[in-house]
Amino acid sequence: MAGADLLSGEIVFSPDDPDAAGHFNRMLREFYRQNRRPMPWRVNLSPYRVLVSEMMLQQTQVSRVTQKFPGFIAVFPDFQTLGVASLEDILRSWQGLGYNRRAKYLQAIARTVTDKWNGELPDDPAVLETLPGIGKATAGSIVTFTWNYPLVFIETNVRRVFLYHFFPGKDPVPDREIYPVIERMLDRSNPREWYYAVMDYGAFLSGRVSNPNRRSSHYAVQSPFGGSDRQVRGGIIRMLLSHGPMPREDLVRRCGTDETRSGDILSRMINEGILKDNSSIISFVEV
Ligand code: ADE
Repeated sequence: MAGADLLSGEIVFSPDDPDAAGHFNRMLREFYRQNRRPMPWRVNLSPYRVLVSEMMLQQTQVSRVTQKFPGFIAVFPDFQTLGVASLEDILRSWQGLGYNRRAKYLQAIARTVTDKWNGELPDDPAVLETLPGIGKATAGSIVTFTWNYPLVFIETNVRRVFLYHFFPGKDPVPDREIYPVIERMLDRSNPREWYYAVMDYGAFLSGRVSNPNRRSSHYAVQSPFGGSDRQVRGGIIRMLLSHGPMPREDLVRRCGTDETRSGDILSRMINEGILKDNSSIISFVEV
């Protein structure tokens, strides 16, 4: 089935129909056969590569992560290397991915894995959820993609597919109603590939059908980058990476936004443990 056929009329599946899983999965398999997207983290699977990619994919588009992932892995090939790296070096490789707190979380995770878990990432999603920056969706995706366990998790592309095909017109739809449907549709013989297919299909639907995710109880849009705090944070990091430690006053003045706002943003980055202020000289934390 070519992609366009899927859009020629909304195909509604009833989760109560005993044949729904068969129909849905036939459609999905056919879509995936013709439209699967190659991604560098879907080959050479290891707990480390999957963890890094899922952290990157939390808030950054696949196309951007595809550009940045290989370079990051080349510099930091394993938990050990990442755990001993300075935050400054990690942020240098993280540049362009945005939401830089995730780089700090990754460093902390790498240290826990090497110092407490003997270099092994646990395969229990409940344990992974105790790590910083890892919620239910990321824990589920890491375990499913690494170990091929049949877990039920929802991220944005998964949600889009299920709202579109199983909840047409219903508004709002909480995730708790979607979980049991995924549970029934999930291909337990190969959950990893099944989720790859659902995600690729969800990405395909994005922009082609009126956004089903608006009907989710958990709908949230990312704010525009231009003029955002994220942009200012990116600018602060870029400046410190190229100049080295800088007086607070200079940094705040050169942020390209009003000084009260940039001062607030700087203070937040200090509270988050990304930057430090040593007698009004700002630099990256060094632990
Ligand atoms: N493939 C593996 N993980 C993915 C994700 N989080 N988003 C899209 N494709 C993926």
